[in-house]
Amino acid sequence: MNILEIIAKKRDNKKLSKEEINYFIKEYTNNNITDYQAAALVMAIYINGMDDEETKELTLAMADSGETLDLSVFGENVVDKHSTGGVGDKVSLILLPIIASLGIPVAKMSGRGLGFTGGTIDKLESIKGYHTDIGIDKFIENVKSIGISLIGQTLNLAPADKKIYALRDTISCTESIPLIASSIMSKKIAAGANKIVLDVTCGHGAFMNNIEDARKLAVAMKNIGKLANKETVCVITNMNEPLGYAVGNNLEVIEAVNSLKGNMPEDVEQVILELGAYMIKLADKGDNIEENKEKIKEVISNGKAYDKFLQLIENQGGDTSYIKDTNKFEKAKYILPVKSEKAGYIQDINARRIGEISGLLGAGRMKKEDKIDFSVGIVVEKKVSEYVKQGDVLAYVHANDEKLAQEAISEVLTEYVIESKKVDKPKVILEII
Ligand code: URA
Repeated sequence: MNILEIIAKKRDNKKLSKEEINYFIKEYTNNNITDYQAAALVMAIYINGMDDEETKELTLAMADSGETLDLSVFGENVVDKHSTGGVGDKVSLILLPIIASLGIPVAKMSGRGLGFTGGTIDKLESIKGYHTDIGIDKFIENVKSIGISLIGQTLNLAPADKKIYALRDTISCTESIPLIASSIMSKKIAAGANKIVLDVTCGHGAFMNNIEDARKLAVAMKNIGKLANKETVCVITNMNEPLGYAVGNNLEVIEAVNSLKGNMPEDVEQVILELGAYMIKLADKGDNIEENKEKIKEVISNGKAYDKFLQLIENQGGDTSYIKDTNKFEKAKYILPVKSEKAGYIQDINARRIGEISGLLGAGRMKKEDKIDFSVGIVVEKKVSEYVKQGDVLAYVHANDEKLAQEAISEVLTEYVIESKKVDKPKVILEII
């Protein structure tokens, strides 16, 4: 068996065997296959797809490429959460301290930005001193001592996914059901939780643009969950316009902190309540979804969720003075308004383009080794269904380069579709699978 034959087989739209998939994952993880060969195979998978069996084998091989955590010390109902990615998606930063403050252990491995979507790890690293790369013992110890730890894929958990994820990001191979399902589920299997809630985003700002594809992805991940003996619930959420207002790393951390203090954007709140209520249910801490939502509201209003966030940041070396006073976060040099050129109701804001523009300002990566600029991004001021007058501020561009800022202003403006007809606020929770 060799990699050239495997690439040629997928290129010609043939089914890969378990042995071929295992060979690729093992040899790529051990650096015996080059990035350009892996890129060719990943592109062939992207174009020709994989059937359920291949997707399952890919997931299991990736989950098995490193260590697998045993979280049984925390009981039978350890719940994990993951999103298929979005623009302005700061849900993990808000939801996980909420869940931990309800006494449910949170041991979560998050990812970096992928394509036009942001990543929780990049956002956390915008907090001075926060370590996302602690060892496994420390990770478990943190969960034992304060009930929560959030880390990056720096541990030896699903290292094959870490490599393929970073590769996909730089070869335009993000929107693929087998690649997303195997990426997410391999991490979830390796990270040890036995219950999983997945936020399957759907719309312009998601990898799945329509409800049919979002359903297919949800079903693929649920099936893998079943095979791995992990109860999985998928919540399909709307990602047509950016979630909340802020897009960009420290800008989103600031919005998350404000949310934990009770000032949460309406769409973010709906996602938090729905995902959180299912996490509580899977953790066996309450069967009634509506009552679970009340429990979440309570730990926000009594400050317990915010306190848990502070504890998390402190425990992983972060400087909590940034959380206590978010004005301390580095600000971009240019914070410039995008003004509406006409009056009317906002019909659409293309979240994908907002994510891409934010990436071009420096909030994302073009190459694997690129450094993120934590302070740049876009803060949306007006959302879909709102009425604006000519000259009203639609958004602010946060940039460190004046030319890029000016380009971003005109590009953001073109992403706002404004017409005279009224439109309803978009539905946020689309389906539960
Ligand atoms: N999140 C992941 O971990 N992997 C993907 O492929 C997409 C979102």
